Amino acid sequence: MAPDRRPENMVRITTPSLADVFIKEQLEAIKAQVGDKKVLLALSGGVDSSVVAALLIKAIGKQLTCVHVNHGLLRKGEPEQVIEVFQNQMKANLVYVDATDRFLDKLANVTDPETKRKIIGGEFIEVFVEEARKLEGVSFLAQGTIWPDILESEKGIKAHHNAGGLPEDLKFELVEPVKILFKDEVRIVGKQLGLPDNMVFRQPFPGPGLGVRCPGAITRDRLEAVRESDAILREEFQKHGLAGKVWQYFTVVPDFKSTGIKDGKRSFEWSVIIRAVNTTDAMSATVENIPFELMQHLVERITHEVKGVNRVLYDFTPKPTGTIEFE
Ligand code: XMP
Repeated sequence: MAPDRRPENMVRITTPSLADVFIKEQLEAIKAQVGDKKVLLALSGGVDSSVVAALLIKAIGKQLTCVHVNHGLLRKGEPEQVIEVFQNQMKANLVYVDATDRFLDKLANVTDPETKRKIIGGEFIEVFVEEARKLEGVSFLAQGTIWPDILESEKGIKAHHNAGGLPEDLKFELVEPVKILFKDEVRIVGKQLGLPDNMVFRQPFPGPGLGVRCPGAITRDRLEAVRESDAILREEFQKHGLAGKVWQYFTVVPDFKSTGIKDGKRSFEWSVIIRAVNTTDAMSATVENIPFELMQHLVERITHEVKGVNRVLYDFTPKPTGTIEFE
């Protein structure tokens, strides 16, 4: 069995060869723990669950079933990438559930941010449980718990949410192959396992996804404007070398319209707000100084390419007083 806690003297994984040693040890540990039994994994496409998936696919192949729940609040191209990488390339057993309508129907007319979060979290567990019950003979649940999750739950900073929420009859034994790693180590291991850079080195993305970037009651058209403007921002940051430099960047489309002119006619449309911040621990944050020319280019692209948008604004507010997300 792999150690339950990070050994005091463990060398930080900073190189591909150190990652290789860790991978080799973990593959053995997973095989020893799981034997010929079946494992289930909720694969969000985030760094931690993706690296766990890649390790398990290598160790036990088709004994793993990954469930990817698309709650309709993912970024442009994300569900497609999960299918491409894990199903097409790595040949994983992947159950893809497009639950977009279910989530958006439940969220219709809900304006309170915490209620939105609760609905998204609760619905996610329901969909996952439904899928889990369809499978037979599953003995283990794999999770992308990492070392800071364990430390923070011990200190009472945040509940170790991963294990929570499943009903009694689905309390499987856990497989947590990256639980002694820090985030930077998980990324190196992921790269070494052949996962694409944009999956392994991606910026943080909240569980409720684009739902908290569509303030107030989520509507499909405004959500689409968030998704499309976010895709343009990510593409331009990538092109201009900011993607690896800025800690977190995204767009928000608040629920108000303003007057403008498009094609010589009056328009009455939404504004896109750009947010780009730097931080080390997300407790406080400073605002990135985006070059003015790039800002102008972003305005040009977003106002011309995103349906229903006639203005682009930049959020200059550090944390505090603003939080990073709008909700
Ligand atoms: P705030 O907005 O609190 O965000 O300054 C700090 C960091 O936490 C992320 N965040 C979340 N992550 N579920 C998550 O998994 C959430 O409900 C949530 N809310 C905020 C946010 O993206 C930022 O990185």
